[in-house]
Order: sequence, then structure tokens, then C-alpha cells
Amino acid sequence: MPTNANYMVSTANLALEVNGQSYPVEVRHHWTLLDVLREQLDLTGSKRGCDRGECGSCTVLLAGQPVYSCQILAVQVGSRPIVTIEGLGDLSDLDPVQQAFLDNDGGQCGFCTPGFVMSARALLDANPNPSEDEIRQALSGNLCRCNAYGRIIESVKAARRE
Ligand code: FES
Ligand code: FES
Repeated sequence: MPTNANYMVSTANLALEVNGQSYPVEVRHHWTLLDVLREQLDLTGSKRGCDRGECGSCTVLLAGQPVYSCQILAVQVGSRPIVTIEGLGDLSDLDPVQQAFLDNDGGQCGFCTPGFVMSARALLDANPNPSEDEIRQALSGNLCRCNAYGRIIESVKAARRE
């Protein structure tokens, strides 16, 4: 039987590409991408809601696709680029989706907002002028405890390029 004395925690050295920057990090094999973003890189915009793949508050783009960062181990990312909410824009230069959420009051407490914005960004990158049904489908993996869905959908509609 292994004892605490001989138990070895294995680690890996990675170079994660996040928001266009390369971050060398040493990670434990069981750490998720969300763990590393929030706790190693101090990128706390991606939220830890359920931590089990149900709420979407941790959504980031991995090679352009929206993923739950709580459900991917950091060691699985490889060389694929990651974009977090911090990489979309800042107060002086908001992404059109962020601006649309601001203009349309697309959040209440705001906890779910980064995840919704990332899912919406992925949708609009793939389809600049989606129907309301397509928007609802693309956002179906994101939950809002404040029930602000109506304003969230209106925000994404406002960000469409007609
Ligand atoms: S925190 Fe990842 S899906 Fe809820
Ligand atoms: S605005 Fe509060 S959880 Fe969505």
C-alpha cells in the first residue's frame, strides 16, 4: 500500500497560449484548465459555478470553440490557443458582444455573463447573423440563475451583423 511518505504528485510543464500570450506553467495532472486560468494565471473572469459541466460560467474558447474549462485538464490543451473573457476586450475597447450586453442590460448579478459572452462570440464568429432560434441553441449550455435570459438574447441579437 502506498503511504503518504512515498506518494508522489506528478506535474507537467506546459506553455499555454492564452489571449495571444504564452504562459509557462507547472501544473498537476489533475488540475483543470479553469484551475490554471484562475489560480495560476490570475485570469478570474472565467467563473467557477458548478465545477461539473452544467452551468457554462467557465466557458472559454479553445481553438475557436466554446468549451467548459472546468471539464478539460490543463494537460489536455496542448498547443491549442485559448481565449478568455479578458482576451476579448477591455473597458477602452470592448468587443461588440460585450458592448451589446452593456447596452442591453444583458446581465443582472453578472456571474454568468462571461460564459454567455464567450458562447455568443463563438456563435457570431461562425455565423454573423444567426436567427433567434440559433442564438437560443448556441446559448443552451449556459445557465443564468437570475433568469435574465430575455435580455441576454436581446443582447446577442443586437451584436449580430445584419
Ligand atoms: S463551472 Fe464549468 S460548467 Fe459550471
Ligand atoms: S445575471 Fe446572475 S446568474 Fe446570470
